[in-house]
Parts: sequence; C-alpha cells; structure tokens
Amino acid sequence: MAVTNGMVSLKHLVTMETLSNEEVLGLIKRGITFKQGKADFHLDRQYFAANLFFESSTRTHKSFEVAEKKLGLDVIEFDAKTSSVNKGETLYDTILTMSALGVDICVVRHSKDDYYKELIDSRTIQASIINGGDGSGQHPSQSLLDLMTIYQEFGTFEDLKVAIAGDITHSRVAKSNMQILKRLGAQLYFCGPKEWYSHEFDVYGQYVTIDEIIDQVDVMMFLRVQHERHDGRESFSKEGYHRLYGLTKERYNRLKESAIIMHPAPVNRDVEIKDDLVEAPKSRIVAQMQNGVFVRMAIIEAVLRGKA
Ligand code: CP
Repeated sequence: MAVTNGMVSLKHLVTMETLSNEEVLGLIKRGITFKQGKADFHLDRQYFAANLFFESSTRTHKSFEVAEKKLGLDVIEFDAKTSSVNKGETLYDTILTMSALGVDICVVRHSKDDYYKELIDSRTIQASIINGGDGSGQHPSQSLLDLMTIYQEFGTFEDLKVAIAGDITHSRVAKSNMQILKRLGAQLYFCGPKEWYSHEFDVYGQYVTIDEIIDQVDVMMFLRVQHERHDGRESFSKEGYHRLYGLTKERYNRLKESAIIMHPAPVNRDVEIKDDLVEAPKSRIVAQMQNGVFVRMAIIEAVLRGKA
C-alpha cells in the first residue's frame, strides 16, 4: 500500500485498520474529485470485476456495480444461489476460480468474520479482494463513505464530536469507524443498550446515554438493530428501543444547528430513527448512499493502480 502524489495504491482493501491516515484522506479526496466529475481516469486494458455477495445487500452491492461500470470495468454476474456453492464449493475455491478466469477484482460480502484472510494469504489467487462486509468484523467501503460524508460537511475530523448509537457489538460499521475516527482526531461517544456494548471499545470513546450527549455532538451516527446477528432469545420492543435509544422529534430538536445525523442504512424506520426524520434537513443518509458510489470508484482505482 502506498500514496504517490496523493494517489493511493492498494493490493486489497479488507479492513480500515491497515490503512494509514494519509491513505484514508487520499481515498476520500479522490472520491470527492470523482463526485465533482473532475477525475481523469482511463483504463489501460480490459478489467473484470465480480461482486460476490453471500449475505443480502442493496447499497454496497449495487453501488460497487455502478462504480465499476462508471469506470469502464466489465462486471461478471454472480449469484450464490445458482453457483457451485450449492454443490459445496468453498469460498476459497469460488474466489480461486474467479481469479483463474481472469477476474481482477472480487468484492466479497460473507457472514464469516475475517473470511478474507485465507484469500489474501493465498499464493495462487491473483484477484484483489475488496471486503464488502465480513460478519461482525469490518465494512471498510462503508467507513470510507461515512468519512467522505463527514469530511464534505466539516472539512476536518479534528476535535469533531461523533456519537455512535445502537447495536455496536454486532456492527461492522461501528467497528470500522471507531478506530479510524479516533486516529483522525475525532472525539467519540457510544450510546445504546448496555448489552450491545463492550468495554473493549472504551479505548476509542466514552459510553454515555444519548440524552447526555445529543445537544453537544457534531455527528450523530445511528446503527441498524441487527436482528439477524442476535441469538433470538433477546426480547425486543420497537417502541421501547425508539424511546430509550432512537432519534425522536424531541432529540432531533436538541441537536446543534450545524449537527448532522447519519445511518448506514437500511434504516428500521421508527426504531433507530423516527420515520419522518429519515429525510429531515439534518439527515445525510441519502448523501451517504450517493457518496458510496464515488468513494468506491476511488477504492477500485486504487486497487487497479496497485496492479500496475
Ligand atoms: N449499508 C449497507 O451495507 O447496506 P447494504 O447491506 O444494503 O449493502
């Protein structure tokens, strides 16, 4: 991994933890340049990308596809339900096959934490891996689009007060964001149910109630309640959760004038955020989705440069 004249080169992108601050800022700024339509980008040959999603996705899957097509890559269709995964093919063998076919970039989402380790350690697999989400591990492209959205709003991360609220232990978005936000100089706060918080996060920020912090934050980032990662024994009341931890009209009105609200989406409306606040003036949820395309263009470009 390297940055030359502000341009980032990557072999793979699997976690935020291995990106330097310079690489993160380079990718964000390049995403903004793509968004402004000012990027000078040309392919030097034909490149193939495959998006292998073994867990459900709307935003990540389709915005990678849009980004790949905008850059001129050939996108290979892949549907886990009709692939040889049904015959017992392992993830390793699926990616080995894609690489053997000449696919240059595999964007992968999988339920297994750290699934990517054996892929990037392989001597045979030549394809670059972009992690579209691993279990409760990392979601680096979501983190970069979140950072791009914050940077566009404030032009810095230094001393920004950022609160991350909700289902933190199950959230790869929270885990991808907390370390890098602290490294970039933000002051972090965590809110939400105690049972979905772990003291291992104390090194990055302070655990508080949403009502203690809502009137002080610059960024109020809500997380989806990830029922699919719960063991089913937890009793859950939508109304109770919303009242204790969600964005109500009363809490929205206590936000600073300049504060923004974020959510990686999909949003459980009336749970994390009141339905009619999802598209409220302080919400940047649509901007996050839009920025996802442009920051993913920057990621793909960096990976292609890493192959040169
Ligand atoms: N935010 C996000 O990862 O959304 P999808 O699950 O729809 O990709």
